[in-house]
Amino acid sequence: MGGRRAFITGVTGQDGSYLAELLLKKGYEVFGLVRRLSSPNMSNLQTVREELHTLDGDLTDQSSLSHAVKLADPEEVYNLAAQSFVATSFSQPVLTGEITGLGVIRLLEAVRAHNPSVKFYQASSSEMFGHIAQEPQDETTPFHPRSPYGVAKVYAYWACVNYREAYGLPISNGILFNHESPRRGLEFVTRKISDGVARIALGKADSITLGNLEARRDWGYAPDYVDLMWRTLQQSEPGDFVGATGEAHTVREFLQEAFKVAGIENWEGHVKTDPKFNRPAEVYALRGNPAKAKRVLGWEPKVRFKELVRIMVRADLERLSKGQSGA
Ligand code: NAP
Ligand code: GDD
Repeated sequence: MGGRRAFITGVTGQDGSYLAELLLKKGYEVFGLVRRLSSPNMSNLQTVREELHTLDGDLTDQSSLSHAVKLADPEEVYNLAAQSFVATSFSQPVLTGEITGLGVIRLLEAVRAHNPSVKFYQASSSEMFGHIAQEPQDETTPFHPRSPYGVAKVYAYWACVNYREAYGLPISNGILFNHESPRRGLEFVTRKISDGVARIALGKADSITLGNLEARRDWGYAPDYVDLMWRTLQQSEPGDFVGATGEAHTVREFLQEAFKVAGIENWEGHVKTDPKFNRPAEVYALRGNPAKAKRVLGWEPKVRFKELVRIMVRADLERLSKGQSGA
């Protein structure tokens, strides 16, 4: 008690849970927004349950946000909540716009009314670059989103820049490339692979079915990226920062490495493809240039591709060999 106060939306998600751990370790008092679900989803928060203050609310409900911000009375706000799965944004585009786009304006309004000096971090995304205009992408690369999710993130990004310019609020965007971990949702490709490979290795499944194996991503490790978020809000001036490893690999390479970690040869026989996992518009390749984050924030990702794959496959092997089926 008595440390700096931070408010995190999306605290039950991958990044929110790692960020809560990081901030608690730094002595912050941490408040997290949790929405009502029919089955509570607190599995990522096991390490912080005792210390974390949870507040009821939803990014689609203005009054709940205003109330939560007032109760938390934070110096730093990290807006990580979103409908974050690109494929679902095609089947639920309006909901995605409500949460991932308009939700940000609702939270900005709540913060502006409560205390305009609060430092605000927005979880912007490399998905905004979409149909890429240059390689690698940095803070100056134009946006060309390819999904309702990407479109909503572009709206949110510009809303943050606009509130910074219009009202002088200390708002920053982290434009983060894909980052993964054993806490990644099972529907995202890296976790679908690590979970699938572990099941195959343990004799619980025979194959994995995926979409586009040639998609290329700049994959990093989530705990490294929450450190970037914190460093962003420690600056005296707000700004926008790309977070990336600078290295890109295909889904096929991720598969190959994952099967290698599990000691399985002839992996192609265990992989099927189904066009139902292809997207109406695909982001074929993303690779970021994190030079500005290195120069200004002193940030560098520690975990690289092969180690990331090893961490994820080993974690799923361990979880599944204990007979735990959930995430
Ligand atoms: P995630 O695991 O999907 O977590 C999303 C969080 O948002 C969950 O806590 C979820 O709560 C919450 N949420 C969803 N709808 C909500 C609503 N209506 N009201 C309040 N909370 C809601 O995502 P993540 O990977 O941690 O990513 C964190 C943020 O960074 C997201 O904004 C994502 O779009 C962005 N981002 C992620 C990456 C990446 O590679 N991971 C890269 C760039 C940007 P429930 O648990 O209740 O569902
Ligand atoms: N999910 C999934 N499932 N993706 C597949 C599959 C599959 O079976 N097969 C191939 N892919 C390809 C997708 O078409 C995409 O090109 C790539 O794998 C990565 O997909 P995801 O892991 O779902 O992530 P994403 O890149 O679309 O989005 C993630 O990263 C963004 C940052 O660029 C999410 O975390 C977003 O919230 C985040 O903003």
